[in-house]
Amino acid sequence: MNETLERWTTRRAFILAVTGAAVGLGNIWRFPYIAGENGGAVFLLLYVTFVLLLGLPVMMAEIMIGRAGRRSPMQSLGHLAALAGGSRHWRWLGLFGAFTVFCILSFYSVVSGWSIEFLVASVNGNFVGASPAEIGAGFEAFLADPGRMTLNHTFFLFMTMSVVAAGVAKGLEKLNNLLMPLLYLLLLMLAGYAATTDGFGQALAWLFMPDVAAVTPLVVLHAMGHAFFTLAVGACALMAYGAYMPDHQSLPRAAGAVALLDIGVALLAGIAIFSVVFAQGMDPGEGPGLMFVTLPIAFAELPWGALWLSVFFLLLLLATWTSSINLAEPMVATLQGIGLKRGPATAVIAVAVWLVGLLSVFSFSTLAEWRPLAGMNFFDLVTTVPTEIFLPVGGLAIAIFAAWVMPAQSALRALDAGPAGFRAWRVLVRWVSIPLTLVVLVAGLW
Ligand code: PFF
Ligand code: NA
Repeated sequence: MNETLERWTTRRAFILAVTGAAVGLGNIWRFPYIAGENGGAVFLLLYVTFVLLLGLPVMMAEIMIGRAGRRSPMQSLGHLAALAGGSRHWRWLGLFGAFTVFCILSFYSVVSGWSIEFLVASVNGNFVGASPAEIGAGFEAFLADPGRMTLNHTFFLFMTMSVVAAGVAKGLEKLNNLLMPLLYLLLLMLAGYAATTDGFGQALAWLFMPDVAAVTPLVVLHAMGHAFFTLAVGACALMAYGAYMPDHQSLPRAAGAVALLDIGVALLAGIAIFSVVFAQGMDPGEGPGLMFVTLPIAFAELPWGALWLSVFFLLLLLATWTSSINLAEPMVATLQGIGLKRGPATAVIAVAVWLVGLLSVFSFSTLAEWRPLAGMNFFDLVTTVPTEIFLPVGGLAIAIFAAWVMPAQSALRALDAGPAGFRAWRVLVRWVSIPLTLVVLVAGLW
């Protein structure tokens, strides 16, 4: 039996945990830079569409399976498949999910480590009076320094794994609950500041006026992958959380709230970041460093900037912390499923993730010329393939399982939205989400 089974004692705790999993680097770091590389408004439009047509219904499917199975992802899938007279091989989907979150956590920890570095730098006042060029050069110098990056990566992974080892403490829940609204407030404040810069109009146009000619199958694939990533869907991570969901709670309402909040955070971050980009005459397609350069520039111009920037990185760290715990949980649950205790299971995963994370760390220096696939270095590879291929493939299988394989009675009960709500959900998944994911995957890969 899972030691954390009693974890979500209230409906609110469940929504908070899922929000914690969803809101993270995906919104504040990944969304702006991927949108910047993929035409801005076109990307935004596609990604929001995918969140509504795929991400949200598949999120419900995923949580449903966990809630109906009440076991680790692998065991829930195997159990429900057997109930329906189907093949127990469905449980391997749980293992595929664990592999996906393994890849994601390995770079997630490295990039979250960047926020630790920037938090410390900002508390020390390193950005005070620095010019945009100096801030940019500082970031380059940091990337070229694997020692510092490894230190931060190690520290962040330790933070994550110690909470997971303890079973997610009530403390983190509470802290999250208390502090996340502050992050939203700060983002609003930043967007407000952005409105006063010269770049604001251009940022809005860039984000909200799609140039349809920019749509390619690859842009569509990027947008779909991002929709899964930002909602934390497709890797059985929310399935693990669903197993602890209370009995009487409407799943569509909970999932809908999370999705809207997630889009809102991405929009605010995008407006803030692109205003600075355009005000400074920077390139929106700058890549993974985008946020780490634009935000210090923006805050440097604000009164009390160093203080606000420190608070911002602290909150971002908190947001990535609650996401990384969600990334680690299904791996730990999987190892527990084969008989390991929570402590040793966590340690094994920590070491493995740490080692693979080093490959990302060194991608910016020693291993910069190592191109394992299609001209991408390891960091590019691990930030792309798991998100854009593994998550949609996993999501597709999860959707097929929930809408076609698992017993309809269990699904109906686990969705908790009445017979009409259930039928609407199933029609959407069967005839929209599944075919759409397939088409985009095939077109994008081809
Ligand atoms: N949703 C998280 C973010 O936007 O930062 C990332 C994530 C968490 C992806 C958990 C996948 C996952 F299973
Ligand atoms: Na997100």
